[in-house]
Amino acid sequence: LAADVELTIDAAQAGPLINKHIYGQFAEHLGTGIYEGMWVGPKAKTPNTHGWRNDVLGALKALHVPLIRWPGGCFADEYHWRDGIGPRAKRPVKVNTNWGGVEESNAVGTHEFFDLVELLGADAYVNGNLGTGSTQEMAEWLEYMTADGKSTLAQARRANGHAEPFKLSYFAVGNEAWGCGGSMTPEHYADLYKTAVTFLKAPDSRRPKFLASGGNDADTRWTEVLSHDIKSNIDAISFHYYTLPTGKWETKGAATGFAEDQWINTLAQTLKMEPFIAQNVAVLDKNDPQKKIGFAVDEWGTWYDVEPGTNPGFLYQQNTLRDAVVAALNFNIFHAHADRVRMSNIAQMVNVLQAMILTDKDKMLLTPTYHAYAMYVPFQDATSLPLSIANNPAYSLGGTSIPGLSASAARSKDGKLYLALVNSNPHVPLNVAVRVKGETATAAHGQVLTADAMDARNTFQAPQQVQPRAFDAKTSGATGPLTLSIPAKAVVVVAVER
Ligand code: AHR
Repeated sequence: LAADVELTIDAAQAGPLINKHIYGQFAEHLGTGIYEGMWVGPKAKTPNTHGWRNDVLGALKALHVPLIRWPGGCFADEYHWRDGIGPRAKRPVKVNTNWGGVEESNAVGTHEFFDLVELLGADAYVNGNLGTGSTQEMAEWLEYMTADGKSTLAQARRANGHAEPFKLSYFAVGNEAWGCGGSMTPEHYADLYKTAVTFLKAPDSRRPKFLASGGNDADTRWTEVLSHDIKSNIDAISFHYYTLPTGKWETKGAATGFAEDQWINTLAQTLKMEPFIAQNVAVLDKNDPQKKIGFAVDEWGTWYDVEPGTNPGFLYQQNTLRDAVVAALNFNIFHAHADRVRMSNIAQMVNVLQAMILTDKDKMLLTPTYHAYAMYVPFQDATSLPLSIANNPAYSLGGTSIPGLSASAARSKDGKLYLALVNSNPHVPLNVAVRVKGETATAAHGQVLTADAMDARNTFQAPQQVQPRAFDAKTSGATGPLTLSIPAKAVVVVAVER
C-alpha cells in the first residue's frame, strides 16, 4: 500500500540561488578517469576532438557540466604544472604515487584541461600544489594561466597555443592538508595559506575565487580555524565527505549485490551530509556573519570496495540505482544550504568512484548517477523555494530509520516551478499531494528514475537497464490536490503547472 504524504511549496518566498556550480564534477589523474576514460590522444583511432573522446564529450555536454575540478585530489599536491606544458612527446614521465604507482605521461596538462572545459562550456577549477610545490610555483602557474601582455609566462602560454589568457574560475591552495596534502594542523595550514595567497596575483578581471582546503566528515575544526584566522583573499573553504555503506574504510561494502541493510545504511550515511554541512555553516555564521565565505563540498559521493579484479589503486566501481538515490538526496541537501554551499564536485567524473560515465576501451555507458544529474539540470542557477512536508513516513530497518521522502523545489531560470522528490523506501510507493500556497497546482510533467532491483545498473552488455522514463500527473477534479504517485526507490523531477 502506498503511504500518503502532503507537500506544500511556498512559491512566493524566494530562497537563495542554487549556484550551478553545485553540479560540478571532479576529474583527477587517477586510474582511467582521465587517460583512457576521457583522453585518448589526437592520434587515437577512437573518434576524438584534440585527444578527448567524442562519445564522452557528447555525453558530458548533454549533462551541462558547469564546472570541472582538476588535477586532484591527492594528485594535486604532487603535480608540477611545468611538466604538463609544451610538446607532449617531450614532457617528463612521472610516477603517480598516490594512485597505483602507474606512469603519468603528463599528456594532459594545463592546455588540454582548458581545452576540455572550453569544449564542454564548463568553468575551470584548478587545484594548486601546496604539498610538494611552492608559493612561487603556484604564483607562476596563475600568471601563466591569467596574464596578458608581454610577460615571459604569458608569451610562453601563447607559444604553447593559447593566445588569450585562460578563464579560471577557482584556484585552491592544496588539498586535504590534514592528510595526503601534508598531514598538517589547521593552524599550520592557515599560516601557509595566508602566505601563499599574498603572492597569488591575477589581473582584477581574471582573478579566480580562492579556496582554502578544509576539513572532512564530522570535523568542524578546520572550518573554525580557517574562517577565524584567514581574514582576506578567501572565497570558500572546502569540505570532503564520502558515503561508505558500512562507514568503515577497511571494509566499505560492495557496489552491487548488496542486501537491504546496506541500502538503508548507505542512505543513512549519505544523509549525514546534512548535519555536517549545518554544523560547519553554524561555525561560518559565527566567524563570517556577512557570508563572504562559501562552503565548497568539492569531494563527495559513494566509495565502495573496488570492483573485483580491478587495480585497487584505480578506485573503479559499478554504479546502481542506489547511487542515483544518493546523488539526489545530496542535491536536495545542497539546495537547502545554497546560501553557503555554492559549489560541489562529485568524485569523480569518469571511471572513478561515483562516476557519471564508465568506459571499456571504445565502449561507454551512462550510469544511474548520470541520469540523476541530467534530471536535476533545471535546478542549475534556479531560485530555491521553501517547502514543508507533513506525514513523511519513516523508512526503517534494523536499528536504522530515515525519512521516506526527501524533496526540493525551485523556480528555474525560465520561470518554471520544479519539484524533485526522492523515495528512499525500496518497498513502499508514496502518494504525494502537492500544493502550491495560494495557487492551484494542476499538473506535473517530468521524469522518474527507478528499477526493479536496488542494485539495478547499466552494463556494457545492457547499457540501458536504468533509464529515466516520462512521469506525468494531473488533478482528478477541479479542486482536488495534485497527487504524484512516486514508486518505491525512485527519483522524480517534475515541472509543476499552475
Ligand atoms: O577522490 C579520491 C581521493 O579522495 C582524492 O584524491 C582525495 O582528495 C580524497 O581523499
